[in-house]
Order: sequence, then structure tokens, then C-alpha cells
Amino acid sequence: MKYKNLGLRGPKVSTVGFGAWAIGGMNWGKTDDAVSMLALNKAIDEGVTFIDTADVYGFGHSEKLIAELIKERGKENIVIATKAGNDFYFASSEDDEGYGAIQQTYTKEYVIYAAEQSLKRLNVEALDILQLHSPGLDKLEQDEPWLALEQLKKDGKIKSAGFSIQSFKETEHAHILDAHHDLIDSIQVRYNLLEREAEKVLFPKAIKYGIGVIVRIPLLFGFLTGKFSKDSTFSEDDHRSMNLSSEKIQNYLIQLEKMRPLFEKYPEQSMGQVSLRFCTSHPACQTVIPGAKTEKQVIENSSASDLGPIPEEFIPPLN
Ligand SMILES: NC(=O)c1ccc[n+]([C@@H]2O[C@H](COP(=O)([O-])OP(=O)(O)OC[C@H]3O[C@@H](n4cnc5c(N)ncnc54)[C@H](OP(=O)(O)O)[C@@H]3O)[C@@H](O)[C@H]2O)c1
Repeated sequence: MKYKNLGLRGPKVSTVGFGAWAIGGMNWGKTDDAVSMLALNKAIDEGVTFIDTADVYGFGHSEKLIAELIKERGKENIVIATKAGNDFYFASSEDDEGYGAIQQTYTKEYVIYAAEQSLKRLNVEALDILQLHSPGLDKLEQDEPWLALEQLKKDGKIKSAGFSIQSFKETEHAHILDAHHDLIDSIQVRYNLLEREAEKVLFPKAIKYGIGVIVRIPLLFGFLTGKFSKDSTFSEDDHRSMNLSSEKIQNYLIQLEKMRPLFEKYPEQSMGQVSLRFCTSHPACQTVIPGAKTEKQVIENSSASDLGPIPEEFIPPLN
């Protein structure tokens, strides 16, 4: 496992981390906590030191499993990034847009409240990284969420301030870094072989300001492992029934065809491993956080770290 500093001000993290959305047990079909704990433990065995979660994943359940992990394995070498703003504490069923009863709340008071709940749930004295959980531009352009992060830092309740950028808004929201680069230590970005908008404006800004970059959805919800076809279906309680609909998969399959030459350069590596290597090949990106549910997935994903970056001449051109 390789390790890198997350930007100029962030902690040192493994270049492959663990995305802990699915193990929360909501939005990804049924999960088994015993299997999830084995996966988390395997990640630590493999040298993973970075876990990304959110208070809202499983409405606290993902954070609770991570608390169990650090109780057993110790916290010392593990960096936990969590998120706040997807408010499940005060939302009602009318707010449910397919992910459960959640509303977007980014007032100073609420973000501080949510951070305090995460501190208790994770049973830590300070959160390593607290990220604003993909707010809309109307929220980002207000002072409140930033004042909350500033206050939490001042009070020693968070060590680093992060900002998870809404999917498909990578360019549109990039100017937020100009306004708040003194406060933002890291950003989290949707980025993978088929979705590269972030390269255009956002990544150059992150490099300019020394802001760390965490890559999410690197496997496009599992699609980039090559295991899905246009006939793949997902249960109703799996968000992929919307986000990997048959129509979307057909479109992704057409784009995937263009990546064949890259995968063929590494016949001994899985498509998933090549896809993960791609993500951390960009100089802006220090770590990638594939979601994993099982030990087997963790082993395959973690081993991509030592395979290193893909040489620049093999990277497909940006459209
Ligand atoms: N707004 C935000 O801030 C935001 C949004 C989304 C995600 N995230 C974070 O980013 C992390 C990663 O994104 P993601 O989990 O949505 O998507 P992802 O990492 O692209 O895909 C994860 C899914 O792919 C499958 N998979 C993983 N490794 C595999 C392997 N080696 N072989 C075959 N299948 C494999 C698993 O599902 P199956 O086994 O069921 O196929 C897994 O749940 C999340 O866990 C979360 O921490 C943040």
C-alpha cells in the first residue's frame, strides 16, 4: 500500500481507501453487518488507513460500524472522513427523493449539531475530516456552512475541513475554491474513467491552492469492474435501479468500448484495478475511495495502490 499527504494541509492517507456508503445498509440493497465488519477489518489488514463515511449513510449505521472497527483495531493510524448536511435528523417522509427522508440543511447551527452527533457516534475527540455533503450552489454561496467549519476547527472538533462537490457540478461549483481555499483542506469529487469533467477547471484549482482531492465513485457504482450488462437489474432499495438503469448502462457500455485499448494493456489486472489506478494517476488526486462490501472486493481494490499510476501516454484523451 502506498501513502500520500492529502494536499498541503491534510493528513497522510493510503492511496486506496474504503468508501463506507454501502455498508450503512441503505440505498445499496441488503447488507450483512458481519460481512461488512470483515470487509472493514480486511481493509486495515491490507494497509488501508483512510475511510470515507457520512452521518447519513444508513442514518448513522455506517459510522457505528466504523466506531466498532476502531474500538477493536485502535484509531491511531486510521483517518476517518465524515460528512454533514444531508439532514436525516429533522427531515420528514415528504423530503424523500429516493434516498430516504433527508433534507439539505447547511445552517451554522445545524452543521455544528451534526458534527457533534458524529463525534459521539464515532466515539472520537475530534473528526479527522468533516466534509460538507454536496450542497447546492444556493447553500454554498451563503456564509453559514463555512462559518460552521471555521468554528468547529477553532474549537478543535474537526482537524480538517472538506467539501464534497455535487456530482456533475464539478466545473460549475469550482469557483467556491477561490472564495474558501484558506479554509478548505480537501475536496471530494466524482471522477472515473468515464466521468472526467473535474479535470477541466476543478483539479487545476485544487493544485493551485494545495487542496487535497479524494476521488469517489471510481468504479461507477461497480460498472467499471465489467460485471454489468444492459440486462442487469437492481432491487428497488438499491439506488442503482435509478443510477444504473438499463438506459444508462447501455450508454456507459458504448463509452466503455473506447477504453478497451487501455484495459488490454494490462491483461493481468482486473478492469476494476485499472479503473482505480486511473483515478490516482491524475496529479491532483491523492486517494480513491472505492465502496466495498466484502473482503474479496477489498483485497482486489487495495492491491491497485501498489500497481501505481498509469503512464501519461496510455491515458485516453479527454473529450
Ligand atoms: N456525495 C458524496 O459525497 C458521495 C456520493 C457517493 C459516494 N460517496 C463516497 O464514495 C464512496 C465510493 O463510491 P460508491 O461506493 O458510491 O461507488 P463505487 O466505489 O464506484 O462502487 C462501489 C460498489 O461497487 C461494487 N464493487 C466494489 N469493489 C468491487 C470489486 N472489486 N469487484 C466487483 N464489484 C465491486 C460494490 O457493489 P456490489 O458488490 O453490490 O456490486 C460496491 O458497493 C462511497 O462509498 C462513499 O463513501 C460520496
